[in-house]
Amino acid sequence: MISTRIFLIGFMGSGKSSVGKELAKLLQYQFIDLDEEIEKREKKSISAIFSESGEHHFRKTEQFVLKDIIHNNHVVIATGGGCALHENNFQIMEKEGTTVYLEAHAGTLFHRLAPVKKNRPLIASKGDIELMEYISDTLQERSPYYHQAKIKTDAGGSISDVARTIEIQLHNNS
Ligand code: S3P
Repeated sequence: MISTRIFLIGFMGSGKSSVGKELAKLLQYQFIDLDEEIEKREKKSISAIFSESGEHHFRKTEQFVLKDIIHNNHVVIATGGGCALHENNFQIMEKEGTTVYLEAHAGTLFHRLAPVKKNRPLIASKGDIELMEYISDTLQERSPYYHQAKIKTDAGGSISDVARTIEIQLHNNS
């Protein structure tokens, strides 16, 4: 039996939200985007939360909202890129469902993130070289956390291919 809660983890730009929506359709589960839930609760964009209240406040809210939505069943939850490595979020997700790491190379992430960086407070002000350095360094730092996931998937393909691959992996793991 596939777990009733699937948590997608991985770096910004790895496709957690788009793949998550597709995977939810395949599994006939509900899709929840953790960042969107945080924005609804705070009635502010993620960028405004970072600039007005700081990252510490964002991380506290992130865990609060995670603990709140975790009671849902038959859900695919796309988490923010830092969620799995802050507080004991990873342990909570492992306990309550199946974690899936969407693994992508730094170069792929750079090409996806450079055109859309303005909505992401941690990279919004970075030029190309600085952005590439940030992605390489932060990915290296975060990889050991992401690799704790039960399922690892190459996130370099199309949204539908990645979602289908995860569906197969979930069946094989059940
Ligand atoms: C963050 C990633 C963002 C968002 C916030 C912090 C991070 O989510 O939660 O800006 O620490 O990597 P996405 O991975 O959905 O962009």
